[in-house]
This record gives sequence, structure tokens and C-alpha cells, in this order.
Amino acid sequence: MNSLFFRKSVIAATGLFLCIFLIVHLSANCILLLPEFIARDMYNSYSTTLRESPLIKIVAYVLYAAILLHTFYALLITLRNRKAKPEKYVVNHSNENSTWTSQNMGLIGIVILLFIVVHLANFWARIKLGIGEEVKLDALGNKDVYEVTYALFHNIYFVIFYTLISIPLALHLHHGLKSAFKSLGFYHKNGLQLLAKVSLVYAIIMGVGFGIIPFIVYFK
Ligand code: HEM
Repeated sequence: MNSLFFRKSVIAATGLFLCIFLIVHLSANCILLLPEFIARDMYNSYSTTLRESPLIKIVAYVLYAAILLHTFYALLITLRNRKAKPEKYVVNHSNENSTWTSQNMGLIGIVILLFIVVHLANFWARIKLGIGEEVKLDALGNKDVYEVTYALFHNIYFVIFYTLISIPLALHLHHGLKSAFKSLGFYHKNGLQLLAKVSLVYAIIMGVGFGIIPFIVYFK
């Protein structure tokens, strides 16, 4: 349970699950790019389905557990590496193009964790837990999550915050996904090269997607 292999496997498996969540989350948030008369109903109906479906509720608990486990074991490994000789654990493959990122995954992870806390406080806590300003209902009787998002992304500071955070997010996803593939045993050289490209494309799509949506909503 405490071996480095076990910890790395948990980080890799939970990380891959979080990567899948982000694909779904970005796809859903692309609804915000549609004209308002379609986007509002679609976004609010989607959000209601997520909150009310028993199956998705279970997936949501798995998601929270994945975030906690990923953070816990990643912090454990980072602290252990800091205590020991840091350079001992630096992976230095010839095709490694993000040495700074690989050495600072813990730090970047903490920045993303802080972002998630702020993000959940603004959306999830208000919408799901009913904490803070009450969320109004739309014409169909669904919680107007579109309005919450629209209002937040009409504050330029939030827009800049979301856009800036997409940079460490992309760096973390690029290196994290590559490392997860390695940790889970995809060692074959050609396969690894392909997976490295997949990781890069994935990270770019996530970074650009999450970074650009707040700006487009701002100018809507
Ligand atoms: C354009 C950027 C984003 C927008 C507009 C957005 C919007 C939202 C909204 C509206 C919710 C609440 C959903 C609901 O309960 O109905 C939510 C939840 C959440 N978001 Fe985001 N999000 C964005 C980016 C991100 C990013 C980059 C991450 C992670 C790095 C993230 C992680 C989460 C998590 C973990 C939840 C809780 C999921 C749940 O309980 O179902 N979001 N987001």
C-alpha cells in the first residue's frame, strides 16, 4: 500500500480518470459558445440532468474521491522527493521536452488545486450545495447555471484568472498524461512516442479550450 509503485499507479489511474472528466467537462462547456437562445436551455438542462441522475451522482462521488486520492499521493511523493535528493527522481528521457514541468509537477498541481477550490466555491457550492447567493430558475424551471457562468465571465478578473490558469493546466496535463502512460506500463518505444503526441494534442485542446471559453463568453 505504501510502495512507490502503488502510489504512482494510484496517481496514474486517478489522473487518467480526471483527464476523461475534463474531456466531458470541456465538451459540455462548449455549449456556452452557442447563441444565447439555444445555449441557456441546453446548458441548464444538461446541468440538471447531471445533478439529478443517480448514476451520474455515483460518478461524481468517484470524481471527488479521484481528486482527493490524486492530490494525497502526489503530495506524498513530492514531499518524499524533496526530502531525498531531488535530482534522483528527475526523469530525463531524450524525448522529454518539459524538464521544468517534470521537476515542478507538485507545485503546478497545487496551483491547479487552488484553482479547483476557487472554481468549486463559485459554481459547485452555489449550484449544488445552495451556499451563497441563490441561483434563479430559468423559463423551464431548471437552475439557471448559464446565468451564473455568464455573470462570472463578465468580470474581466475572472476571465483573466481562468485564461492564465489554463497554462499550468496544459503543462500539468501534458507531462501528467505521458507519465501516467509510463506508470501503467506502456513502455514500448514506438507506442510511447505515439502516446507522447496524444498527450501533447490533448493538453493543447484542454488548455486552449478552457482558456478561450471565458473570453468568448465575455464578448458575447
Ligand atoms: C471554461 C471553464 C469552465 C467552466 C465554464 C466550468 C463550469 C462548471 C460548472 C457550471 C460546474 C457546476 C456543474 C453543476 O453542478 O451543474 C462545474 C463543476 C466542476 N468543475 Fe468546472 N468549469 C470550467 C473549467 C474547469 C476546469 C479547468 C476544471 C479542472 C481543472 C474544472 C473542474 C470542475 C469540477 C471538479 C467540478 C465539480 C463537478 C461535479 O460535481 O459534478 N472545471 N464547472
